[in-house]
Amino acid sequence: MSETAEETAPEAAALDGHRRVTAVEFMAVTEQAALASARWVGQGERKLADGAAVDAMRKTFGTLPITGTVVIGEGEKDEAPELYVGEVVGAGGMPCEIAVDPLEGTDLVARGDAGAIAVCAIGQPGGIFSAPDMYMQKLCVGPTARGRVDITAPVAETLDVVARCYQRRIRDLTVIVLDRPRHRELIEEIRAAGARIRLIPDGDITASLSAGVRGTGDHVYVGIGGSTEGVITAAALEILGGEIQAKMWPRNDAERERLVRHGISDPDRVMLTRDLCPGPMYVIATGVTDGNLLRGVRYFRDGARTHSIVMDLFDHTVRFVDTIHLFSRTPLREIRL
Ligand code: FBP
Repeated sequence: MSETAEETAPEAAALDGHRRVTAVEFMAVTEQAALASARWVGQGERKLADGAAVDAMRKTFGTLPITGTVVIGEGEKDEAPELYVGEVVGAGGMPCEIAVDPLEGTDLVARGDAGAIAVCAIGQPGGIFSAPDMYMQKLCVGPTARGRVDITAPVAETLDVVARCYQRRIRDLTVIVLDRPRHRELIEEIRAAGARIRLIPDGDITASLSAGVRGTGDHVYVGIGGSTEGVITAAALEILGGEIQAKMWPRNDAERERLVRHGISDPDRVMLTRDLCPGPMYVIATGVTDGNLLRGVRYFRDGARTHSIVMDLFDHTVRFVDTIHLFSRTPLREIRL
């Protein structure tokens, strides 16, 4: 670790005397979730695919020396049997907060479409905003345009700014948008501004990560998606040096009341990356089906291969990890480059 990284690493005091569990140790959680859910690719069974990921993730958290409180999970206590908000997971040890999306893109897996991932974010205690589960308007960019965009500006203006940051024309940008009727006007405005659009059926964490990493060919993610996905995105973009700007998008009075209970009295308040995730430590994602950033799970005789991104704010590293999982202990193994 460089001197600079040491200076800006999260407080060691937050570990409360416990051994620091590393980001690579946490990677087992998303790898196991991906391996379990990838068996359901193309089977038309979104719930079973999600259930497999949840079970595998919870079981693997149980093997880690952590005392982890789920702050973003599969729902409230009475809605979700496992990984519900408030559940404490782990074998006991390093205190941390956990935000999970065991399978982002349940329908993608059911159909065998690209872009599904298993993902979790680990934060210091108090380090992850426990957002109520509802819609959220989001604008995500990578480090090149961090600090330069404004979610309240017309999208054409945003694209102009981003194009300048990349020193190119708007028509040389690719913007990712969830393919939903609620985005019809937004899509028209982006088209009129001249940018290329990648319409995706699902998976806006994957989309935001792709916009946050240079070389994927994606530059901006914009639109309305899930708020819990927004929090995980914030953790990832904070580590990657990118930015999310967000506004909650309540659809009725009940949702507006829930917002107030979560401390947001003004639904139009713009939340920035660190409002959503003030104390991230790690974010780890493993591909379930192929995407621009991560390859999906590939099975072979007696084993499987997973591809993960491991973002670590302690070590200031971002690792791309290609793991071969051998299911058998017999000498019939075959490793390929
Ligand atoms: P699931 O994995 O829970 O199915 O969510 C996928 C997703 O596309 C998210 O990435 C996105 O934030 C949200 O659903 C959008 O919600 P909706 O499908 O209601 O438009």
